Amino acid sequence: MSFSRRNFLSIAGSSAIILPTTACTFSHDSARDPWHNAGNYEDPMRRALSYALLAPNPHNRQPWIVDLLSENEAMLYCDLERLLPQTDPYSRQIVIGLGCFLEQFRMAAQQFGRQAIIEPFPEGFNDKKLDQRPIAKLTLARPRSSQADPLFAYSLDRRTNRNLYEDKTPDEKILKTITSGLGNRIFANFTNRPDQLEALRDLVTEAAHIEFDTKRTYMESVEAMRIGSRQIRAQPDGLVLEGAMMEALHSLGILNHDSLADQSSAMFRTGRDGYAKSAKSAPAFVWLSTPTNTRLDQINTGAAYLRLCLKTTAAGLAIHPLSQTLQEYREMENALARIHDLLGTKNQERVQMLARIGYAKAVGPSPRWPLEAKIKPT
Ligand SMILES: Cc1cc2nc3c(=O)[nH]c(=O)nc-3n(C[C@H](O)[C@H](O)[C@H](O)COP(=O)(O)O)c2cc1C
Repeated sequence: MSFSRRNFLSIAGSSAIILPTTACTFSHDSARDPWHNAGNYEDPMRRALSYALLAPNPHNRQPWIVDLLSENEAMLYCDLERLLPQTDPYSRQIVIGLGCFLEQFRMAAQQFGRQAIIEPFPEGFNDKKLDQRPIAKLTLARPRSSQADPLFAYSLDRRTNRNLYEDKTPDEKILKTITSGLGNRIFANFTNRPDQLEALRDLVTEAAHIEFDTKRTYMESVEAMRIGSRQIRAQPDGLVLEGAMMEALHSLGILNHDSLADQSSAMFRTGRDGYAKSAKSAPAFVWLSTPTNTRLDQINTGAAYLRLCLKTTAAGLAIHPLSQTLQEYREMENALARIHDLLGTKNQERVQMLARIGYAKAVGPSPRWPLEAKIKPT
């Protein structure tokens, strides 16, 4: 059967995400309830947290755990069961996702008239390995005057968009605006220059192929996949394969975790080819770098990436991180060095995020665990 080559499937995204090309299903199911419930909490801490959990985060692992200490104080921890040890061995990307969470928390608190005081790593940190120590202490204060952040308005519309991007180059002025003022100690850059674009498209595709072809790194994505609405409702996280076609392939036994895991299968090849197609459609790239690569740099990157996403949404553009070249495992070493050369980084500078940016058909929100599931039981 040659279903694998038909056009109705497009496979894109981090690591082998299969999505229908027209994925714009804002189906009102329980897995999406947190998007509807954001802000619907009486107490200010829960209200701000209900937005924070909508933040972008690697593989949608949602590794946050919140310990509510008092009405105005909480401690944020990382759920160490939700790391990505193969593709993110030092949890650099997980910490960036936690930085996105903290920035979305800060903006939501400000929107509702509170000042969020965020103290990262109050008990210190280990740059190589995350441990049980808290990621941040959160305190809500009452400022004398508070001014809401205009970017907050885009929080519920922000998406990671893995569709093919249109052959339309984003305007240089818009790219400059969205990459400016993203934070201290953050270098934000973009390119839509044909020669650099071509080299970047080739390198991100090569890196994606390395991840697909390395069994242990590819399996990390397969294990994160939720196939069809039943699995998504039961575990509202990870990378989703949904829509009528996915349900049909799933119920026929063609699409499941076993067929995805089989690197000789049509499903695998479709994913691998689809990734290349989506990377090649990039009309522009943006990237964020930091002068060093400490945990604080990673938290700052998360805040900057969240702001970049919201600015992108405000400008009517789509964004999709392509993180493979930035990952720290043996098979990727060469690509990691080459991406730094290609982007002209100097000294100790570390590229933390690389994303394609452009115009694409809209997508719906990704699943989230409800806030209640992420609050540490007392
Ligand atoms: C540090 C980081 C790295 C990411 N890398 C990728 C990536 O390589 N490919 C991809 O498709 N998505 C990537 N994402 C996007 C997440 O998969 C996405 O945020 C998550 O699935 C939730 O979806 P949402 O952003 O639409 O809410 C990354 C996100 C973060 C914060």
